[in-house]
Amino acid sequence: MSGKIRENFGSRFTVVMALAGSAIGLGNIWRFPYMVGEHGGAAFIIIYVLCSLFIALPIFFCESILGKSTGKDTFGALEAVAPGTKWKNEGYVALLGSFVIVSFYSVVGGWSVDFLIRSFTTGFAGETLGEAAGIFQKMTSSVWEPIACLTVFLGITALIVARGIEKGIGRFAKVMMPLLFIMIVVIVIRSCTLPGAEKGIEYLLKPDFSKIDGPAIAAALGQGFFSLSLGVGCVLTYSSYMRKEENVLYTGVWTAVFDTFFAILAGFAIMPAVFSAGLEPSAGPSLVYETLPVIFSRMGRIVPVIFFLTILIAALTSSMSMLEVLVTWLVDQKGISRRKATLLFFCACWVLGCVCAVSSKVFSVCDFMSSNVFMMIGALVFALVVGWKMSRSEVRSQFTNYGTSHKAGAVFPVVWFLIKWVAPAGIVIIAVTNLL
Ligand code: PHE
Repeated sequence: MSGKIRENFGSRFTVVMALAGSAIGLGNIWRFPYMVGEHGGAAFIIIYVLCSLFIALPIFFCESILGKSTGKDTFGALEAVAPGTKWKNEGYVALLGSFVIVSFYSVVGGWSVDFLIRSFTTGFAGETLGEAAGIFQKMTSSVWEPIACLTVFLGITALIVARGIEKGIGRFAKVMMPLLFIMIVVIVIRSCTLPGAEKGIEYLLKPDFSKIDGPAIAAALGQGFFSLSLGVGCVLTYSSYMRKEENVLYTGVWTAVFDTFFAILAGFAIMPAVFSAGLEPSAGPSLVYETLPVIFSRMGRIVPVIFFLTILIAALTSSMSMLEVLVTWLVDQKGISRRKATLLFFCACWVLGCVCAVSSKVFSVCDFMSSNVFMMIGALVFALVVGWKMSRSEVRSQFTNYGTSHKAGAVFPVVWFLIKWVAPAGIVIIAVTNLL
């Protein structure tokens, strides 16, 4: 390693905004609201919060401790805490996971660029649902349009990452994340005051505990993992740029709180509008790119603009974190300059992104593999390394900032138990349930 001092995020606010930026993304907007409605409303939200608290958050702490205590990329961090062992090979899985996610994520990010431009120019007003679905299908079945938009999306991501941790990622996150919350609140207000909005609110909130079964719990946990960006080294990498005085407990809890809060807000932005228009809720691309443009454009010209800008920013702050995993690896392990590393991975992700843009099969395989395989392996390895390779006193000292944080000291026994036993068992259970 070179003797250069490692960059850092500067303030605590910036770290939390960057981590929340990674966490808040498409998962919050196009999957969470639908999952809540399908799996028992408020009952599902309770299960989701419990799963996040007892399984996802402890894994977040593991990644954060690994990154912060070593100040290295995924390989370097694993090698530092378990020298000479095979655990560092998880670094390859994390790289592959980040690479695959950033590639297909950029396709969807590209669609939001396309729809943002459309909402400025032609708009969607007057479009019926069928026509809107037609616009989306025509766009995705053409070759050049999605590729051009993907290039713009990935290009912006790369430009931010190339500028570095503080001036690029940190600055973008600390300006954009508050704006993101303001924009989603504007849509929530607009959506919840529509006639018939109560039905959407009821869909989201009415608790139905009879819907809480094994698959619902596995879904909650899987969503919690995806949403907190776990298992592919994003949290580890960002944490490696934290200042020593930052507190892992604090940053983790705030990231999870913002992430969950945003997901619930997205639900209130979307479902009341869907029900008020007399439509059926769905998940994924058809919700965001077919149903919502029509509904939102009936609410005025500006609403679709705000909505697609929200998606674009949410997606950018997530894709930045995945690209950063790749770039940090090249910089730390291969001694390549940040700019060169960013350019190299921009090209590599662009190629896989183009394949995903034209082949829906490759797109779904990438999507499936990342959340069901790469993230699960990564999360398991991080939990095992921290829980079983590091000593309790070492983890405690990292978690409590060498014993100076009394709050962290007070919760540590519980966190340690969760890391050592509950989280690994939970991961194995969801991984098996999802794969079956
Ligand atoms: N957390 C992001 C979302 O909810 C997705 C993501 C996954 C980002 C893994 C980084 C790493 O959309």
